[in-house]
Amino acid sequence: MKEVKIGLIGFGTVGRGFAEILVNKKAYFEEKYGFTYRVVGIADLVWGSIHNPDGIDLKKALQLVDNGQKIEELGETGWDSLRLIHESEADVIAEVTPTNLQTGEPGITHIREALRSKKHVITTNKGPIALAYNELKAIADDMGVQLRFEGTVLAGTPALNLAMGPLAGVHFEEVRGIVNGTTNFILTNMETGKTYDEALKEAQRLGYAEAKPDADVEGWDAVAKAVIMANLLFDGHLKPSDVERVGITGLTIEDIEKAKAEGKKWKLIARVWRENGTVKAKVTPEMIGPEDFLYYVNGVTNALVFKTDHLGEVTIVGPGAGRIQTGHALVADLIEIVKSM
Ligand code: HSE
Repeated sequence: MKEVKIGLIGFGTVGRGFAEILVNKKAYFEEKYGFTYRVVGIADLVWGSIHNPDGIDLKKALQLVDNGQKIEELGETGWDSLRLIHESEADVIAEVTPTNLQTGEPGITHIREALRSKKHVITTNKGPIALAYNELKAIADDMGVQLRFEGTVLAGTPALNLAMGPLAGVHFEEVRGIVNGTTNFILTNMETGKTYDEALKEAQRLGYAEAKPDADVEGWDAVAKAVIMANLLFDGHLKPSDVERVGITGLTIEDIEKAKAEGKKWKLIARVWRENGTVKAKVTPEMIGPEDFLYYVNGVTNALVFKTDHLGEVTIVGPGAGRIQTGHALVADLIEIVKSM
């Protein structure tokens, strides 16, 4: 049976969601896809950094962290992220450290080094893809390995793989949608009478929100996703600072009530389009009515409407955040890599 060796950089919410799916679906993957996996290293600044060429007991690692304990007893210590990337036998590096939209680090360095070491990379980290996609993709191509990042946009809902795979051959004229789960969850909850703070706390408890909620509520997370789509699907060269951005913190209960009275809703809408040959993107709250499909997209659910030349409009709707929902993106990308191995 085919075996893929994985190095896991980051054992936070998403890393553990990914690990949980790997544990629960081991037999299913063997049966259905004819492959198995071995996690040969985990590097995490909080929970410990270990290497175990025989395979780390992931179930035990998850139990230890659930109990607030480090994972160091499960392998040899002294293997930090870069040592794991450079020296381990991993075929695939899963990079799931926290997103930094200013510098992209440490994700950019991890991904660059993994690709240079001829290791495939799967990631949900938006910083490196929003800030350094072209550079990283060129290294991947040079080294003959894959860089896959489905989970950077719409979590495990297949937005990017859909756009790059089954939608290959179309010309994207516009992409418009709801790409942030936390803000859509907050807005939906405020419509039912919850306060902003109550809704935000619940989103954090459910693992939707970024480490710093500003990234969500001020629109930066949606900007990163818009930049990724602009550069990947529209061949743009946008940076986050090129995107017009307004978050949801200026919306009051009165604004929400007023929209409701008019039969409308506030949504944080991301849009990427071409204007006179230039690729543009913006993220702003819009008050929309029932004639707009996005009106019906509530809670942590996200949606994207791809406006294409010869196929017309294609819409994808699904979970936009969550540990298992985002972990799934890594699983889907991993399976694509295994198929090619
Ligand atoms: N904080 C993000 C969201 C997570 O709420 O959409 C998924 O990228």
